Amino acid sequence: MMKYSKLMQKCINLAKKANGKNMPNPFVGAIVYDEEKKEIISSGYHKKYGEAHAEVNAIKNANGNTIGKTILVSLEPCSHYGKTPPCTDLIIKSGFKKCIIAMLDPNKKASGGAEILKNAGIEVVEGILEKEARELNKVFLKNILFKKPYVMLKTATTLDGKIALLNGKSKWITNEKARLKVQKLRSKYQAIMSASGTILADNPKLNVRLKNKTSPIRIIFDPNNKIPLNYNVFNNDARVILINNSKLELPKHIEQLNFDGNFDKLFKELFMMGICSIMVEAGCGFNSELIKADEIDEINHFIAPKIFGDGLNFVSGLNYNEINDSIQLKNIKVEQIEDNLLINGKIKIY
Ligand SMILES: NC(=O)c1ccc[n+]([C@@H]2O[C@H](COP(=O)([O-])OP(=O)(O)OC[C@H]3O[C@@H](n4cnc5c(N)ncnc54)[C@H](OP(=O)(O)O)[C@@H]3O)[C@@H](O)[C@H]2O)c1
Repeated sequence: MMKYSKLMQKCINLAKKANGKNMPNPFVGAIVYDEEKKEIISSGYHKKYGEAHAEVNAIKNANGNTIGKTILVSLEPCSHYGKTPPCTDLIIKSGFKKCIIAMLDPNKKASGGAEILKNAGIEVVEGILEKEARELNKVFLKNILFKKPYVMLKTATTLDGKIALLNGKSKWITNEKARLKVQKLRSKYQAIMSASGTILADNPKLNVRLKNKTSPIRIIFDPNNKIPLNYNVFNNDARVILINNSKLELPKHIEQLNFDGNFDKLFKELFMMGICSIMVEAGCGFNSELIKADEIDEINHFIAPKIFGDGLNFVSGLNYNEINDSIQLKNIKVEQIEDNLLINGKIKIY
């Protein structure tokens, strides 16, 4: 199975090349492999939403050299007519002997491909690098399984867990390289969400200042209409969704969504508006509300070697009697960025 793991890793790396253009579809990569010669014949990936699936591109690139060969795909081949015909038909027609799959498709409409291939006499091996494939498609999995956007919270604190001084000043806790990393993170998410406390304190732009990258949609949580419309987040550089409790006269690029206190409903509504992934960059109040409502999937926590003593916490209002009851992040990755640390972990794994 070792050889398949290496090849599947290549499929996953290929899939990443789509760089989000595939959304809301999954990231998928495929390889056509010759077991006898031990060589890769061709490869392909799902480049863009609505365009050919990874298997179709890999098979096309094999120029007919598929009979008796093996195909590796990072996601179960689809069995349905969506924007393109079923990939299972093409795999069967192409005469493959074996199909190696990393993960089954959670989308009921498209799943069942592995069974169809088995029934057609193709040997199917499932679960090769499944964990990695699920990580690659964490946004797709959350979207399909919960009809909600994937939500990542980013925070930057001192050693003693403060996100700002008591007077609200927070520029800058982390070093320049760490802040560049934040720009890169922003460019990977479809939307950035922040709240009135942070916007009134910092008047942030919440954009991406990297070359050739578009700025994410801004989702602004302002239940009591505290933010004046001339603040940076309301400029028309990007689509804006304002969450509040009233009906306001707003410029055309600002959509309004009412909030009745139910975050589960709010995120479902945001998903209905086409929002698949969100990066939250807010202060203690909003972070705490989202964590208490169990709406955060992942955290990127930057830590700088400073001590504020009194200051604003990254989160508050959680109160446990037992350490074992507290939130324990999983799949931890730690990166050192000069004198700062970035700790990445999952609250939920899909
Ligand atoms: N270091 C970092 O990573 C970082 C990141 C972002 C912000 N900050 C700093 O964080 C500070 C702002 O934090 P913040 O907590 O004041 O604001 P915030 O979290 O940005 O905003 C609080 C939001 O939550 C709402 N809310 C709902 N229920 C709440 C509750 N029970 N308690 C508090 N708010 C509730 C508030 O509505 P209402 O406004 O209507 O009350 C407001 O929209 C600023 O100093 C900013 O510089 C630091």
